[in-house]
Amino acid sequence: MSRVLATTPPTQRQPLPHQLDPARLPAHVAVIMDGNGRWARRRGLPRVMGHRAGVEALKRTLRLCSDWGIGALTAYAFSTENWSRPGEEVSFLMTLFERVLERELEALEREQVRIRFLGDLEQLPVGLQSLIDEATSRTAANVGIRFNVCTNYGGRAELVRAARRLAERVSRGELDPQAIDEERFASELHTVGEVDPDLLIRTSGEQRISNFLLWQLAYAELHITDVLWPDFDAGALVAALKDFQGRNRRFGGVQTPP
Ligand code: IPE
Ligand code: IPE
Ligand code: MG
Repeated sequence: MSRVLATTPPTQRQPLPHQLDPARLPAHVAVIMDGNGRWARRRGLPRVMGHRAGVEALKRTLRLCSDWGIGALTAYAFSTENWSRPGEEVSFLMTLFERVLERELEALEREQVRIRFLGDLEQLPVGLQSLIDEATSRTAANVGIRFNVCTNYGGRAELVRAARRLAERVSRGELDPQAIDEERFASELHTVGEVDPDLLIRTSGEQRISNFLLWQLAYAELHITDVLWPDFDAGALVAALKDFQGRNRRFGGVQTPP
């Protein structure tokens, strides 16, 4: 398997394509990496081969976002609902996450990537949990792109957890309910410290959120592409960013004249 991050020296950065305005890039891109199973089925392969190819697409996307100066990339790797898949597929995915983390950690460190895993991590296999702890602490002081991997993540579970944590503080007498505002609420989410995504990309043509970042996507621009995740490449990312740069973001206000 190719090792994009590991074999490309950090000096060989890919320049931003000329069609894109460097001053108007999203600060944070979120992606629902969908279509791995269909990609494999179209090739007569087992679904899990699509997941393996999906890892390459993620490495490609991370490197491009990093090279082009995008501050953060958040990828949906495994949802709270994905446990309902066949047992073999779930265990393949967990093993894949472990192998990829083990294999890529040095390159992530060297490339200055700051990796974090968002979700209910306690339900993950213990081996994966310790790799996650190691990867998080070993890259915490890095100064490059923030790479958030949503693993056993569900937007509703995240909101319920935040509400419960606030309620516990109130019941211990540490917090006045009147002091709960949007900022305080957001500080109890897995994404604490991260800016909200400006752009959400979903591959494989599905037009839904699938329980992803329900709070944080409040004002994200949506880009849905028919490209299946394992085929997502520089051209597909440029198309998404061009689409984003053509939008007029109003945040509930009125259109600003050009
Ligand atoms: C996305 O691809 C990867 C995960 C959800 C882990 P899918 O596995 O959902 O692929 P399709 O949607 O079945 O094609
Ligand atoms: C969303 O994809 C979850 C991930 C990409 C990890 P799904 O394939 O699970 O979503 P649905 O079931 O089509 O909504
Ligand atoms: Mg899917």
